[in-house]
Amino acid sequence: MNIEEMTRKLQTYLREASGPELRRKAELACEILQLKQEKNAVILAHNYMSPDLFYSVPDFTGDSLELSRKAAAADCDVIVFCGVEFMAETAKILSPDKTVLIPAEKAGCSLATGITAGDVRRLKAQYPGVPVVTYINTYADVKAECDVCCTSGNAARVVASLDSDTVIFLPDEYLGRNVARGSGKRIIFPPAKPDSAAGRMIGWHARCEVHEQFTPEDIARVRAGYPDVAVLAHPECSPAVLDAADFAGSTSAMLRYVAESKAPRYLILTEAAMCENVAAAHPDKEILPLCRIRCPHMALITLENTRDALKTGRYAVEVPEEIRRRALRSVERMLAIG
Ligand code: 13P
Ligand code: SF4
Repeated sequence: MNIEEMTRKLQTYLREASGPELRRKAELACEILQLKQEKNAVILAHNYMSPDLFYSVPDFTGDSLELSRKAAAADCDVIVFCGVEFMAETAKILSPDKTVLIPAEKAGCSLATGITAGDVRRLKAQYPGVPVVTYINTYADVKAECDVCCTSGNAARVVASLDSDTVIFLPDEYLGRNVARGSGKRIIFPPAKPDSAAGRMIGWHARCEVHEQFTPEDIARVRAGYPDVAVLAHPECSPAVLDAADFAGSTSAMLRYVAESKAPRYLILTEAAMCENVAAAHPDKEILPLCRIRCPHMALITLENTRDALKTGRYAVEVPEEIRRRALRSVERMLAIG
């Protein structure tokens, strides 16, 4: 694609951008496409990338589950992961022979830093024999201590697949509470002991710093002004928020919901860049702007540092082989469940 074509493409998504701004972004995007070809690279981008990046250079966009599948199947020498560190690390776990680059070295996640491998070892000693499910928003050494991973798109399925009434579910407190409710389990938190073998989930107190900010009162205020609004929430939001919403699902499930629904307006309780991407793709639908909270980690990834990653080979993600092998088991078990 040449610069003029890219400028026209971006114009359809970035309707408020000025001509010179569009041109500059198009030049950058074309430089990235050229470098991608030279390096035999594939760009994977999470749904939380800003519209200029999301709609220009990725080979694949998606939620955590879809992107791990793409990382496992990628036929290339280099994967550039436009997302946060745990996502790039998952790609490296699945594709150890490929170079995996993340454009911003410090793109973390409050859930991933909310639990350590030592915490998991202590939990296993405290609750011997109880299978451990870990959300994919964790680092490789934590995945290595667990039995199986899950994402927001398959958490309930993964828990249901285990041959055990009691399950340790880490580290997202709200996702744990939401999955427990859906699967008829009662959630407890350490050091509480399960009082019977049946139907217990042992949770952890980490939270997503974006999704924990949404409240049922936000929803009530918006519904009062717009009775025909459809409210969508990510399952990292609190159970009270999910109760007040019309739909809960992974980032891609929410994208599909908006595409397939006939509602005239939407409140999407998730990261702000995704709301912008939805608004850009559906000019006929109104995306209400309550959700202007950006994930500070996702926001570190830009067209500029994606170009620099391809140019300079930074920042290469590495996972020690002994940890990678054990973490791989948890990720592969999840992918087999689907
Ligand atoms: P998804 O897997 O739903 O894309 O969520 C990833 C994430 O980090 C949500 O905050
Ligand atoms: Fe982590 Fe929340 Fe950012 Fe997702 S939005 S990467 S869960 S901090």
